[in-house]
Amino acid sequence: MRTQIIGTGFVTGEHLVKNEDLAKLMDTSDAWIRERSGIEQRYYVEAGTATSDLGLGAAEKAIADAGIDKGEIDYIVFATMTPDHYFPGCGGLLQHKLGLKTIPALDIRQQCTGFIYGLQICDALVRSKVARTVLLVGAEVHSGFMPWTQWDHLFGREGPAPTAGEKDWNSKFRDRTVLFGDAAGAVVLQAGEGESGLLGFKLHSDGSDFKSLYVPSGGFASRPYVSDTDFKAGRHIPEMDGRAVFKMAVKRMPEVVREVCGESGYGVEQIDLLIAHQANLRICEVVQRSLGLADEKVFNNIQRYGNTTAATIPIALDEARKAGRVKQGALVCFVGLGAGFHWGAALLRA
Ligand code: ACO
Repeated sequence: MRTQIIGTGFVTGEHLVKNEDLAKLMDTSDAWIRERSGIEQRYYVEAGTATSDLGLGAAEKAIADAGIDKGEIDYIVFATMTPDHYFPGCGGLLQHKLGLKTIPALDIRQQCTGFIYGLQICDALVRSKVARTVLLVGAEVHSGFMPWTQWDHLFGREGPAPTAGEKDWNSKFRDRTVLFGDAAGAVVLQAGEGESGLLGFKLHSDGSDFKSLYVPSGGFASRPYVSDTDFKAGRHIPEMDGRAVFKMAVKRMPEVVREVCGESGYGVEQIDLLIAHQANLRICEVVQRSLGLADEKVFNNIQRYGNTTAATIPIALDEARKAGRVKQGALVCFVGLGAGFHWGAALLRA
């Protein structure tokens, strides 16, 4: 018996925002963003749409794709770093929004590796027979991190353009803000017979260097955990040492792909499709080269969605399946690295 992915789906925020639109708010350009990250556009939600709402949209699509009755779901795992509330987490909110009975709902927070950690948890739940049909969601509303207030202007509606001072403030965070988008992806997993299903995992964590990517304020290391001073200093916005994260990603991601393949008895060359966390197209390209994989063995879509953290892998899986890139029997490898730092890889026989 193996844990199979029987349905996938995703949704994005309502507003399509191109690189040139961001240049209305800060000192940046389409050329810079494309060259450094490969990103061309991303989506943001309308104010009031929360992570659990996007999670609901993605879950409904994955459930419809699986062709099951939602009442069959007997466990929810929800991965996000941008929950609706400090607590409770999004898992229970999604259970309620889906109108499910009081099934267990677990929240996990492994950022960009959240989906891969979630897959391992779902696999363990299914194989230990704790659950039979599990819904795994990765969802993010990153727009709450954005430092600007000129949303109407950005969305092309009537509204004030930023002043020179506001543009300077917005530009202070431009290395991070241009990368992220709002979206959710979901998969339904179920026990099944036969060759297909999840084959193996290799996960790692290392908290020693967490300050290379973290949100300094809004946590209980501070008293009070939110303060006007922190807000005015922009300490509620992630701080990131982009170069350090880049270097870590291009080292750790190929390493862990080799580990999961080796431990599961496969050669890297046997991978039919690599779906890497979409943090930066340049990172994905280095990982691909380092693993020696041909273009047809790699699926990237960051150009259209930006980095959607826990949602990138399920979105890419859904698009790849629907584009006919995940053939029956194919060996699919998922890999990611994110804040924490957490990184890992998983193998799936389609
Ligand atoms: N527009 C225009 N110029 C910019 C922008 C921007 N958006 N951002 C930075 N710059 C400027 C800088 O000010 C700097 O200018 P200077 O040379 O005059 O000082 C120059 O561009 C180079 O800046 P760097 O930050 O050194 O640029 P770098 O080549 O490192 O690229 C980037 C930055 C894209 C962030 C890259 O480091 C990266 O992608 N790192 C990985 C980040 C990542 O993946 N984070 C998410 C992890 S996933 C998770 O867990 C959430």
